[in-house]
Amino acid sequence: MDVSRWPPPSVDRPRTVTILGSTGSVGQSTVDLIARNPESYRVEALVAATSVELLADQARRLRARLAVVAEPARYRALKDALAGTAVEAAAGPEAVRAAAARPAEWVMAAIVGFAGLAPTLEAARRGAIVALANKEALVCAGRLLIEAVEGSKGVLLPVDSEHNAIFQVFEPSQRHAIDRLVLTASGGPFRNWSLADMAEATPEQALAHPNWDMGDKISIDSATMMNKGLELIEAHLLFGLPSEQVEIVVHPQSIIHSMVAYRDGSVLAQLGTADMRVPITHALGWPARIDGPAARLDFTDLAALTFERPDSGRFPSLRLAREALVTGGFAPIVMNAANETAVAAFLARQIGFLDIARVVEDVVASWERPAQPVQSLQEVQAADLEARRRAEKVSQQRRLSN
Ligand SMILES: NC(=O)c1ccc[n+]([C@@H]2O[C@H](COP(=O)([O-])OP(=O)(O)OC[C@H]3O[C@@H](n4cnc5c(N)ncnc54)[C@H](OP(=O)(O)O)[C@@H]3O)[C@@H](O)[C@H]2O)c1
Repeated sequence: MDVSRWPPPSVDRPRTVTILGSTGSVGQSTVDLIARNPESYRVEALVAATSVELLADQARRLRARLAVVAEPARYRALKDALAGTAVEAAAGPEAVRAAAARPAEWVMAAIVGFAGLAPTLEAARRGAIVALANKEALVCAGRLLIEAVEGSKGVLLPVDSEHNAIFQVFEPSQRHAIDRLVLTASGGPFRNWSLADMAEATPEQALAHPNWDMGDKISIDSATMMNKGLELIEAHLLFGLPSEQVEIVVHPQSIIHSMVAYRDGSVLAQLGTADMRVPITHALGWPARIDGPAARLDFTDLAALTFERPDSGRFPSLRLAREALVTGGFAPIVMNAANETAVAAFLARQIGFLDIARVVEDVVASWERPAQPVQSLQEVQAADLEARRRAEKVSQQRRLSN
C-alpha cells in the first residue's frame, strides 16, 4: 500500500479505542497499556471469542461501553458477569462485526486467524486507524483491506513487531531507493533441531517459544516458520515490494526487529526488547511517541547479535509462503486456511509436527486455478471454507497413515 498516504490524526484529546481480541496475548497487552493511562483513552468496545470472565473484568476496569463475546451461547454468562455495570453486552459473529463498526477512532485488530477478517474490514471501511496484529486478515484479503483503508482515508498501522519496525524506518518518498526489506526471525524453538527430532515434537515443545510469549496459533506458526511466511506476504502488501526484495534472516536474539536496506548502502533497523508492548505502544501513540513500560535495552547486557540463513529444508513453510505470494490470487487464502486447520489438528495431537506443512502443500497443490484474481469478500470466505474442508480431509488421511 502507499505508505505516504498515511495521514497524521490529531492526538490532543482522549483517543476512542476498540480492541478486537482483547482477551488474547496482544489484546491483554493492549488492555494493560490503556489501563496505565486511563485518562488518555475512552474504550468503545472489547471483543473476545469465549473468555467471558476475563472480558467482563477488562470491561469493568476500562469502563468500556460494550463487551462482545463471539459465541452466542455465552451471552447469558457475559450479561451476568456484567451485572451492576453500565457496560452493554452482546454476542455472536454479527455483534462482533457491529462492534468494529462503532465509532472508535483507533481499533486494535488482534483476533487470531481468519475469524478476524470481517470485523477488521469493517473498521477499515469506516476510516478507523486500524492497528493490525491479525496478519491472517491481510494475507487472505490484502487488496480488499488496503482498498478499504484507502477508500475511507483510514490508516493501517502494522503492529506485528517486524512490520512495525520497518514502518518506523521506511521512508515512503524514497521507496525507489530501497534495495530490500530484511525480516528477522527468531528461528523458533526448533531452530537447531534435526528433522528426525522435529518429526516427534509435541505441542508442548512447539509452544515453548524461546523469546516471545504469544498465543498458541502464532507460537506453532513460529515453530514451523509459517509465521515468517505469513509475514513475508504481509510485508509485500504493506510496503509494496516484490517477493525478491524481501529477505528473511534468522536472528535468534530477537533484538533487531527488522530492517530496511537502502541502495546507498545504509541499513536502518529498529531495536528493542522482545516485548509486544513496544510496537503496541508505538501504534497507540502514533503519530506521537508516548511513554511505554517495556524494559529498556541495555547494550552492555547483549553478548552478541547473530544472524543465519533460514533452512527451508527443515522449514518448508517458508518456501510454501513465498510460492503463494508469487502465485497470488487465491493461493495465500488456501495456504492460510490449510495452515490454520493443520495447526489445530497438531494441537489436538491428531497429526505430527511435520505433517502441518505437508497438509498445507497438499491442499495448495489441489487447488484449481490458484492464480485467479480475488474479487470479493464472499469469494475469500468461500475459498477459506473449501480449503478448510480439504485440509481436514488430508489431516485425517495423515492421521490414519501415521
Ligand atoms: N501474540 C503475539 O505476540 C503476536 C505478535 C504479532 C502478531 N500477532 C498476531 O495477532 C493476532 C492475535 O494473536 P494472539 O497471540 O494475541 O492470539 P491469542 O492469544 O490466541 O488471542 C486471540 C484473541 O482472539 C479472540 N478470538 C478468537 N476467535 C475469535 C472470534 N471468532 N471472534 C472474536 N474473537 C475471537 C480470542 O478470544 P478468547 O480469549 O475468548 O478465545 C482472543 O481474545 C494473531 O493474528 C497473531 O498472528 C500476535
